[in-house]
Amino acid sequence: MKKNIIIKNASEIVTCSGFSAKQGSSMSDIGLLHGGAIVVENGIIKNVGDSSILKNIDESNYTVIDATGKTVLPGYIDPHTHFVFGGYRPDEYDMRLKGKPYMEIMEKGGGIINSVHATRKASKDELLKAGTKRLDSMLSFGVTTVEGKSGYGLDLDTEIKQLEVMKDLNNSHCVDIAPTFLGAHAVPKEYIGKSSEYIDYVIESVLPVVAEKKLAEFCDIFCEQNVFSVDESRKLLKRAKDLGLKPKIHADEIIQLGGAELAAELSAVSADHLLKSSDAGIKAMAEKNVVATLLPGTAFSLKESYARGRYMIDNGSAVALATDMNPGSCFTESIPLIFSLATLYMDITTEEAITALTINAAAAISREKDIGSIDTGKKADIQILEFPSYKFIPYHIGVSTVETVIKDGKIVYGNH
Ligand code: NIG
Ligand code: FE
Repeated sequence: MKKNIIIKNASEIVTCSGFSAKQGSSMSDIGLLHGGAIVVENGIIKNVGDSSILKNIDESNYTVIDATGKTVLPGYIDPHTHFVFGGYRPDEYDMRLKGKPYMEIMEKGGGIINSVHATRKASKDELLKAGTKRLDSMLSFGVTTVEGKSGYGLDLDTEIKQLEVMKDLNNSHCVDIAPTFLGAHAVPKEYIGKSSEYIDYVIESVLPVVAEKKLAEFCDIFCEQNVFSVDESRKLLKRAKDLGLKPKIHADEIIQLGGAELAAELSAVSADHLLKSSDAGIKAMAEKNVVATLLPGTAFSLKESYARGRYMIDNGSAVALATDMNPGSCFTESIPLIFSLATLYMDITTEEAITALTINAAAAISREKDIGSIDTGKKADIQILEFPSYKFIPYHIGVSTVETVIKDGKIVYGNH
């Protein structure tokens, strides 16, 4: 197979063109081309446009993909996942089906802490194997970059182990990984009732090692009643910022605690969940260009009401969508599920959902200059769908429509 690629005759190319997050009404601009072509050279998008861009090109030097009857769009970015973990929690899911609330299970020593036990016990090799399988699954849904969080260690060694596994996976797997340190994901059993002492431990003993080893680009915290307060979150995220890790927040997921307001105050890269965020918090985030990363799979799985995606976009937010893939509140890699939930239950349009999973998802992990759209100069991370229009994405409910995935200019999924 020849190294460089031409994609031509596409029924639709959804370019999602842009180099920054799209806010409010601009989320509908998906940069649609009919019958267009893309030229990929050395892993980078060399040109995109109508078929005339191929005029002076000798196609025999390229692998040519005829996309007649197909839709081409940027690889998806999943900007919020916890995909490296040991063990599973099917019994807790069953308890939830029988009516036990998620937070009650957590407060009784289950939940995140349950996965912490299993992750502390797991070998690096076991985590690598499980992580690879989950990345393979994500790739089959068209995902070419994923954010991954630590947070199932809650001690120095295991947090580092999780982040190192992500580093190794980033090298071994074609899907790119943006690593986030989530050492403040829960209060570990060693610190029960002493959350602020635990935050001090993270600040003094874990964060500096993560920063020194350059194992994470972002620092996140579960800012929630009975987990970490707004003040504790501010303290940790400010310190992280000083050490060069950009802040992210699990905000207002179960109750309205003021996480959205804190995200605006700190100019966080994103605030995520936002099921219960206040109007003022949402507007403050939009003003400070904090990406609102919404996780409808989690609301679905927890039987909670959805974040107010429509309201956020109508008030100028840049919304991104993600799976929140994790062993507890949302055990899925399924982008089609997320797409359906966002469009059916958050009143987000198909065009807005595409923006939310591409250029805005890239902005949620500070990569909007490199990925998230089909623009000249960006990485050639591209998916080709089996159908002639992007409108098939939500219409084919819960099923992947992805036929081919190109990552860094190489065909990595599908047969060509
Ligand atoms: O984003 N809310 C906190 N953290 C995860 C859940 C992790 C777990 O239950 O294992 C979330 O929903
Ligand atoms: Fe999460």
